[in-house]
Amino acid sequence: GAPVQADVSKLEPGQRMTVEWRGKPVWIINRTSEMIERTEGFDTSRLADPESEVPQQPAYIEGPLRSIKPEIGVIVGICTHLGCSPLFKPEPDAEGVGTDDWPGGFFCPCHGSRFDLAGRVFRNVPAPTNLEVPPYRFDSDVLITVG
Ligand code: FES
Repeated sequence: GAPVQADVSKLEPGQRMTVEWRGKPVWIINRTSEMIERTEGFDTSRLADPESEVPQQPAYIEGPLRSIKPEIGVIVGICTHLGCSPLFKPEPDAEGVGTDDWPGGFFCPCHGSRFDLAGRVFRNVPAPTNLEVPPYRFDSDVLITVG
């Protein structure tokens, strides 16, 4: 599939947009500084795969935020269990996620898999791995090429 370019100039802090790449939804999340702190400070003992590597993400992606820039997350929006699209539940007090210590992230409604705002999978859910980070690059401050 061809690469796709996304313009994030209108993506407000805290918001998420979706572009399609190779027939898959790719989420681009503009994380606020508070979201970044929450994700970086998260108790990794609750994560199944805190240090993910290739093939869950390109080799140049490192660290807890799994992104080139801390604020901009780029994640394939397909659950690694059976392929549903998880819901964006960015707030710690989000309704309907089935846990009262939800840190904010993505919740898969199909079988209850939970992921943080970097797409890292929690322990004790059906999804075996983190959400995929696709290959991407910044062409400018506001233009991202995925693929
Ligand atoms: Fe997401 Fe099963 S498809 S938990």
